[in-house]
Amino acid sequence: MASSTSTASKAAWRLLSRRATTPRRVVALPDPHRCFSCSVRAHRPEKTETASSRMTHFGFENIPEGEKESRVGAVFSSVASSYDTMNDLMSLGIHRLWKDHFVRSLNPGSCSKTGAAGQNGWNILDIAGGSGDIAFRMLDHATNINHDRATRVTVADINADMLAEGRKRSIDTPYYNTDRLSFMVANAEHMPDVADNSVDLYTVSFGIRNFTDKQAALNEAFRVLKPGGVFACMEFSKVQNPVFNEVYKRWSFSAIPLIGQLVAGDRASYQYLVESIEKFPSQEEFREMIRQAGFVIPGQGYENLSCGIAAIHKGVKPLH
Ligand SMILES: C[S@@+](CC[C@H](N)C(=O)[O-])C[C@H]1O[C@@H](n2cnc3c(N)ncnc32)[C@H](O)[C@@H]1O
Repeated sequence: MASSTSTASKAAWRLLSRRATTPRRVVALPDPHRCFSCSVRAHRPEKTETASSRMTHFGFENIPEGEKESRVGAVFSSVASSYDTMNDLMSLGIHRLWKDHFVRSLNPGSCSKTGAAGQNGWNILDIAGGSGDIAFRMLDHATNINHDRATRVTVADINADMLAEGRKRSIDTPYYNTDRLSFMVANAEHMPDVADNSVDLYTVSFGIRNFTDKQAALNEAFRVLKPGGVFACMEFSKVQNPVFNEVYKRWSFSAIPLIGQLVAGDRASYQYLVESIEKFPSQEEFREMIRQAGFVIPGQGYENLSCGIAAIHKGVKPLH
């Protein structure tokens, strides 16, 4: 992966910085003792704690941090083969519209100056992207809308079963076995194989709520992005209208585990999925976490989808 600031990153920066209300600034990382050689961060006041003694949530359960990765892994290995069907049933197909919108809003392969992609295209890293849903859309958009055949996507996921599903699905795309699409097993919290300042666009779609240490993943996103590069996250969020929220919660807590049981024969994994949505920070809290990682927040920083059932968050790595 190239380490120089590319035209693509600058284009992404210009696109988003026009909407930024916050002045450009470099925010110093709050914790100088960030540890990239382990999957958890060393917080100074908790020096004696280990991943096995610190607690985190797994849905509504409190578990030792050290157990979360394998429990989440088991959920996604279990749902991998029915992932598409289940997504369609649970969201009534709306996740496809959200994903289309997410990709359109990022306009991969564009170059703000000329309207055409730069010679080298964009280097995109799609984290937790096992299904390939975002990667294929990115490449379609770059190719068909921006006439850019150089933009490439690395799909990274911690779960080899989810990656295998994505790889299988890629056989039906024009990108199969080309250098525009690659797959990599990686933990978003610690990616030693991805160089500093090497990525133009980092995307994570419906993945980050499953991470053990979300702040570590955001810090890692900041590290790998080029100056001017864009962080973009789509995740389930908080519904804004109290009446709609009540209806939505009743639907998700009763229907989704039941659909999981009937269609995939796995109630527990789908129970976890709805509980993990409930535990994820609000739009404003998550925006602050993105800011804390060092990103400049463009405008309000997030866009609600379907009244806040999901939200798209963006951050830009400052140029200087
Ligand atoms: C709900 S799926 C999302 C898949 C895809 N991005 C989409 O939008 O359809 C969540 C993914 O997050 C992955 N994941 C969970 N924890 C992870 C981590 N720490 N690092 C990388 N991927 C992770 C899971 O393996 C799973 O494939």
